[in-house]
Amino acid sequence: MDKLKLILPAKKYKDEILRYKNDMIKSNSSMDGCGNLRKVDVSTWLKNCKDWRIGKNLPEGYVPSTQYILVRESDNKIIGMLDIRHEFSNFLLNYGGLIGYSIDISERKKGYGKEILKLGLKKAKKLGFKKVLITCLDTNTPSRKCILYNGGIYEDTRKMEDRKLERYWINLKK
Ligand SMILES: CC(C)(COP(=O)(O)OP(=O)(O)OC[C@H]1O[C@@H](n2cnc3c(N)ncnc32)[C@H](O)[C@@H]1OP(=O)(O)O)[C@@H](O)C(=O)NCCC(=O)NCCS
Repeated sequence: MDKLKLILPAKKYKDEILRYKNDMIKSNSSMDGCGNLRKVDVSTWLKNCKDWRIGKNLPEGYVPSTQYILVRESDNKIIGMLDIRHEFSNFLLNYGGLIGYSIDISERKKGYGKEILKLGLKKAKKLGFKKVLITCLDTNTPSRKCILYNGGIYEDTRKMEDRKLERYWINLKK
């Protein structure tokens, strides 16, 4: 596996962030773990990431969260994105979970999904979590596999309109 780093987004990755966003949109991929990148330009997104981390300028119903990008050290390519929400809202407890993530379209099925979650769990532990809730649609086999690989323990499946979300807890070891 290439050397990867899960870091806070920074201006110097602006072009890569835009490339990641455009590729995801072109492929009609769900953009989990990207905050509101789909809806805003990269400069606004970077500002939101900085603000939301400290609970500033949060949209209605949002909780503070830390956004990360997964960068491959050999070529500085953004391989994935992950965000950690610092606390539960009713929605997050029932459906959203605390960690969201996605992998670049052209880099899928290479083990990076399992790896980004592994690195994300280390960050969650540093943020003070003893356990985290992660959810996936019942149709999302790759995500379920990433969760199970990282120690996910199934609790239940909850219905949100016409979708079913599987809820898994992961204990963060000492
Ligand atoms: C979910 C996601 C992060 C997985 O990323 P990935 O880099 O392809 O994952 P990995 O390469 O680590 O693969 C994990 C497992 O899923 C399997 N897998 C990957 N893509 C698959 C697919 N399309 N169909 C079936 N299995 C698949 C892999 O073979 C691997 O299985 P294994 O453990 O038996 O070897 C990626 O598909 C993605 O970004 N999806 C869109 C966003 C999303 O759904 N995020 C999760 C929100 S809950």
